[in-house]
Amino acid sequence: MLPPLSKLRVEEIATSNPAMARCLRLAQLAATSDVPVVLLGETGTGKTLLAHAIHNSSTRVERPFVAFNASAMSDTLIESQLFGHERGAFTGAQTTVKGKFELANGGTLFLDEIADMSPLAQVKILRVLEYGEFERLGSERMLTCDVRIICATNVSLRERVRQGKFREDLYHRLNGLTLLIPPLRDRLDELPALIAAELKAAARREGKKINAIHPEAMDKLLAYEWPGNLRELSHTVRTMALFCEGRVISSDHVIFSPDLKASGMEEPVGEVRTQPNEKEKPAADNDFSLARALARHVSSVYEQNGRNQRRTARLLGISRGTLARYLRKMDQK
Ligand SMILES: Nc1ncnc2c1ncn2[C@@H]1O[C@H](COP(=O)(O)OP(=O)(O)O)[C@@H](O)[C@H]1O
Ligand SMILES: [Mg+2]
Repeated sequence: MLPPLSKLRVEEIATSNPAMARCLRLAQLAATSDVPVVLLGETGTGKTLLAHAIHNSSTRVERPFVAFNASAMSDTLIESQLFGHERGAFTGAQTTVKGKFELANGGTLFLDEIADMSPLAQVKILRVLEYGEFERLGSERMLTCDVRIICATNVSLRERVRQGKFREDLYHRLNGLTLLIPPLRDRLDELPALIAAELKAAARREGKKINAIHPEAMDKLLAYEWPGNLRELSHTVRTMALFCEGRVISSDHVIFSPDLKASGMEEPVGEVRTQPNEKEKPAADNDFSLARALARHVSSVYEQNGRNQRRTARLLGISRGTLARYLRKMDQK
């Protein structure tokens, strides 16, 4: 189980996936400096989580972490949220309120869903980043601030710049280091470990003694596309634990989020992917461990792709070296 966001440090996030490992190495590097960071990843891949972790691993850890999402906000609200306002600055402004920049002073300001920010918000933020100064609405007094910026986006900012939807000057200000967080479907090698950790936590919460996942259930989980990434994974595992009455998760307990399907996002590929003669296999498969499920999955993808290592490695989202080592290990068993 990961510590709460307020405590989580980059080093505490584990991965066995090379692309994710690279991302975490860069995150560690980012934590040693004040370089502005862009976290680029699909929804639910862990952008918010990583933003907190970078802050907690940085020298700013004792100072505030302030998050701001401007994607669905009117321009006046954006201004008062970012810079604060004086009492009486506009109708309804009954007290003086500090803005996000002021609140984050000395710490980190996390700008979420930055690609959707209005042109006005973009100009305002650019000005603060360039001059380190701003004023509260209704005040002439310049305030200075020292904030480290981390942004998150699920679309490429460079692409947005190309489309004329994002200011190029702001893009350059924000983009010190871009961390690409791979989607879960490209991290299949670490799926069993993530599922195991989530399941342990969910079982504890539900007060259940679940200790295994049936291979068919694991196949179903591994074959899914995970449009909602880790957020959906966590939801699916919680549902599994809820439905499971015994000690073993069966494939009937694996139910994917109907909301995501209804929203037109990708359908799962192959609801259940058992191998043709799997059902007749002798009782060799009363080994329900995650390691066994992973081994079965790897060899099934390998066989289905004509023992082509390059293709298998790509489909599994692991390097060829990792696959080769894995196959050698399986051979020795
Ligand atoms: N590496 C990870 N290990 C375990 N849980 C994770 C990991 N990354 C993300 N999560 C969990 O997945 C969910 C979505 O993460 P979040 O950071 O909110 O994604 P995003 O901001 O990209 O939408 C959260 O509940 C988070 O705790
Ligand atoms: Mg988020």
